[in-house]
Amino acid sequence: MCGIIGYVGARPCRDILFQGLRKLEYRGYDSAGLSIIRDGQFELLHSVGNLDNLEEILHRVGNGGTMGIAHTRWATHGRPSTENAHPHTDCTGRFAIVLNGIVENYMSLRAMLRAEGHEFTSETDAEVVAHLIERAYAGSLRDAVVAAYRQMEGHFTYCAITTDEPDLIVGVRKETPLVVGLGKDENFLASAIPAFMAETRTVLFPEDGQVVVITRDTVELYTLDGDPVPCEWTHVDWDEEAAEKGGYETFMLKEIHEQPTSLADTLAERIGPDGGISLDGLELAPEAIKALKQVLIVACGTSYHAGLVGKYALERWARVPVEVEVASEFRYRDPVIGEDTLCIAISQSGETADTLAAMRLARSAGARVLAVTNIVGSQATREADGVLFTRAGLEIGVAATKTFLTQELAVLLLALNFAEVRGTLSEEQVRAYTEELRRIPGLLDHYFASGAAAEVEDVARKYSGSRFFLCLGRNLGLPVALEGALKLKEISYIPTDAYAAGEMKHGPIALLEEGSPVLVVATDSFVYDKLISNVQEVKARGALIIAVASEGNENIAGMADDVLWVPKTDEMLAPLVAIVPLQLFAYYTAKAKGEKVDQPRNLAKTVTVE
Ligand code: G6P
Repeated sequence: MCGIIGYVGARPCRDILFQGLRKLEYRGYDSAGLSIIRDGQFELLHSVGNLDNLEEILHRVGNGGTMGIAHTRWATHGRPSTENAHPHTDCTGRFAIVLNGIVENYMSLRAMLRAEGHEFTSETDAEVVAHLIERAYAGSLRDAVVAAYRQMEGHFTYCAITTDEPDLIVGVRKETPLVVGLGKDENFLASAIPAFMAETRTVLFPEDGQVVVITRDTVELYTLDGDPVPCEWTHVDWDEEAAEKGGYETFMLKEIHEQPTSLADTLAERIGPDGGISLDGLELAPEAIKALKQVLIVACGTSYHAGLVGKYALERWARVPVEVEVASEFRYRDPVIGEDTLCIAISQSGETADTLAAMRLARSAGARVLAVTNIVGSQATREADGVLFTRAGLEIGVAATKTFLTQELAVLLLALNFAEVRGTLSEEQVRAYTEELRRIPGLLDHYFASGAAAEVEDVARKYSGSRFFLCLGRNLGLPVALEGALKLKEISYIPTDAYAAGEMKHGPIALLEEGSPVLVVATDSFVYDKLISNVQEVKARGALIIAVASEGNENIAGMADDVLWVPKTDEMLAPLVAIVPLQLFAYYTAKAKGEKVDQPRNLAKTVTVE
């Protein structure tokens, strides 16, 4: 999973390509490279490590060329190295390609090409593409790109250039993103819009199997058979500032603080003046909602935790059975689902390979599929029957924060909407919840304004030398505990386990010793007393309690070693506030340890590989 950008135009492109890569670094950052055509020749540059390393040697390439392609890599086949960094070239040195995704049959293609005398210089799957193009080329790069595509299995996007036709870039996609940017005297191809957002906001999303050819003055779209396809341009109105850090030390910290706005945006226009809920784009008739027999939620990582929140809410409010499945497991099951099953796929990127595969499986078994995603035009939106957009804005930090809160909100809205339609909550009950939902952005604004983050920082510093954390929660506190633990693992690298508090006595309690830090999600809830019994069990082993608790809870203060206070709200909506101190706790723990928070090791923001 990688980031790619291509530019052809009137301006020198080296720095344009590099700046584009900067915006794509969240997709991968273990090596990078670019290839520019100048005076009919390639100028190639590769580096290992993040983009700072590429920047250091950027001067080795002149700034004269006006077309080129560039890549930032997240290794799949072949370790991070200069040889494995893209762009890859063919044997003759006339073709260069960048690829995002996986060529699943690359071994057999490589063997075939080798037998024909092609020589490989990398261990990657992607290099076969350069050789396949070389092999097929007969004067048209477009035709050669298609010929390669027809031989390749897997999911990928690639862009190719050749010194034989030094005025065009050809791109094609299969189940991974490719977006075209339309400029004046220049055009762009990239994995995602931010790569060229500083230059243009007029964009086009090619479909799978469409070939796009850009020159300085033209953008042409074709089917694989060479028939022209009309270009449907879209204007994106994202704020460019949103892609910058806006005064915060990291994107993650900025994004944590943006959560009140993200929630407010996701709520906007979805609650009517009468307190009822209207969700555009679901494509679900009231009859279908009433007839639902089962909901199946599929997701990965943080999105899976939002799915767990959805389970509690949908079951309690809409009285429909819900299963939540990790997509990478579900996709290889033989599920018992049918037409009265609704599959909800949650994915902030809308591009996660396992989640897309799970959606396809659910669909083939007869279920309707609804995507909950943050990215307009993403693959999930193209494959789902309906879409519920979160409106978190662009999230750059690899560890998801604001997308998680908006996903939680989306599933809560969905559950309330279903309850309204199915008549399992009264109008008054729905109105009471929607009124409370409307208060949450303000409550969190106040939370940040009151200096809560600094208080969490103090507590986090105190425990940042810990070797291990345990996170506990019950009921709706459990998904919060799981997500808090994931944040700690992702960015602080401190081993952290998360458990249902009642289950702790069946195993994890053996880990506890004098001074072990245990984070407990203890916001107001009907299971609060049960949770407190578990807290006592922990304390009896000499462990230290860091509790996330609702303001005004006097009982916890005497019991916990430290309390991370959150605004009081209805217990069903508490996951929206309870996760925030845990995000901050993980953040400041990582910071105290001196870790690179926005780019945790081994992780990537968008996982387009299985
Ligand atoms: C990666 C990211 C996580 C994310 C997960 C699922 O692992 O690092 O933050 O939760 O993918 O991504 P999705 O885009 O499907 O929500």
